Amino acid sequence: MASMDNVCDIIIFGGHGDLSFRKLIPALYHLSNDGYLSHESRIVIVTRQHLSDEEHEVLVRTKLEEFLGEGAFVESKFQRFLSQLYMATVDFDNEESYTGLKSLLDLYPERERVNYLSTSPDFFATICKMLKTRNLISPQSRVVLEKPIGRDLVSSRAINVEVLKYFEERQIYRIDHYLGKDTVQNIMALRFSNRFFMPLWDANNIDHVQITVSESVGVEGRWGYYDEYGAMRDMIQNHLMQLLCLIAMEPPCSLEADSVRDEKVKVLRSLRPMSPADIEKKTVRAQYTPGSIDGKPVPGYREGTGMAESTTETFAAVRVDIDNWRWNGVPFYLRSGKRMSKRNSEIVIQFKTIPYSIFANKGSCISQNKLVISLQPKESIQLKLMNKIPGLSDQMRLQQVELELNSPINEARKPEAYERLLLDVIRSNPTLFMRLDEVEAAWKWADVILQGWADNVVPMKKYPAGSDGPSASIQLVVQDGVNWNGE
Ligand code: BG6
Repeated sequence: MASMDNVCDIIIFGGHGDLSFRKLIPALYHLSNDGYLSHESRIVIVTRQHLSDEEHEVLVRTKLEEFLGEGAFVESKFQRFLSQLYMATVDFDNEESYTGLKSLLDLYPERERVNYLSTSPDFFATICKMLKTRNLISPQSRVVLEKPIGRDLVSSRAINVEVLKYFEERQIYRIDHYLGKDTVQNIMALRFSNRFFMPLWDANNIDHVQITVSESVGVEGRWGYYDEYGAMRDMIQNHLMQLLCLIAMEPPCSLEADSVRDEKVKVLRSLRPMSPADIEKKTVRAQYTPGSIDGKPVPGYREGTGMAESTTETFAAVRVDIDNWRWNGVPFYLRSGKRMSKRNSEIVIQFKTIPYSIFANKGSCISQNKLVISLQPKESIQLKLMNKIPGLSDQMRLQQVELELNSPINEARKPEAYERLLLDVIRSNPTLFMRLDEVEAAWKWADVILQGWADNVVPMKKYPAGSDGPSASIQLVVQDGVNWNGE
């Protein structure tokens, strides 16, 4: 059992939404049962539709059985968890409708409160304003904002300006769940606790970096949301950018939230802005057409409900250049897509070739060293090195071998990203959350590309569902003499 944390009230707006059932409630169930969340803490599920207590219990039970890991639903644990759950019906923009929620929260007026806005960003400002009007915000309150925060710099700024009228920046937790993944946090450990990588981590030694997040799933019923956003806004501008920052940042002076975020924002501000000619040469956007995954036919994106005319990209690939001393001349290739052949998220650090091979002409080909950080489906870190093939052959024959960096797992279960992040909000630790200037710098860079795409600077390509993306994505790297890892 872990040590219990502060007693607090966690209020989930959009409590019956997809994210809440899939991720937030299961994460809180684990935190509570594993002893990270005090049993006196209350979890208030805020919904717009009223359900009786019985109906609510049945719904939560069904969803937990569906979304908790295998064997994790235990009746006695559920009953205890249920005793922490409360429900409030609120119509977000109707001040009167907050009365029930207020009576519930006012039972413990001094308590720390975590307001989790798992709603469309259109409601962020309204909910914050209502919380203020109903006197439900104290200096100890926090607000968690789910992405996307806007569709571009202007709309993101508008939302943040509104939220900042009611909460101070230190109270705002902008979530990017990739930062809660254990392997992603391990990037900092790997880089900043091993002497070994220190002298190698720069343009003198690294040839290029690849960041791939491919999913075999499609839009999963979120057509309305996804079609407004697409792969660039849904994945590249946030998740992949954050991964890039962790690879490219300078060592922070401490693990304090602002030290880490100061370094990340410097990277984002060093991203080379693209001209229209760059957008044409260095970016790819594509949409999937009918295909098959695991032998089963899959319809194309435009066959989704109301999508016949859609011009939203389901795949994006970009060559990113970072204009600073450490990374000058080192391309970072980013790609992400839905309905790809497999689920695969990885970061590949490709080192330069050795300056001269004494093995040349002896039947040995020297592959470049690689550090491969896999996030999904398996979490692992592999270092690819050259090694002699054992034996008495006259020729010194070499092969590439993999050194696997395995961390022994002490915990019986690997926590999910949302457990880490919710626990950090409960503990008031914003290190893994995005500061306003980070979000804005990322939008500033992405907006230029999105505008170029809106102006049709680069045509929309197609790829069959179940493939590795459009051929233009291969061309993007091949024009620089590079191949995507494993292809
Ligand atoms: C979300 C995106 O932020 O991340 C989804 O909105 C995407 O479209 C998801 O599927 C991927 O997360 P993960 O953790 O499964 O890689």
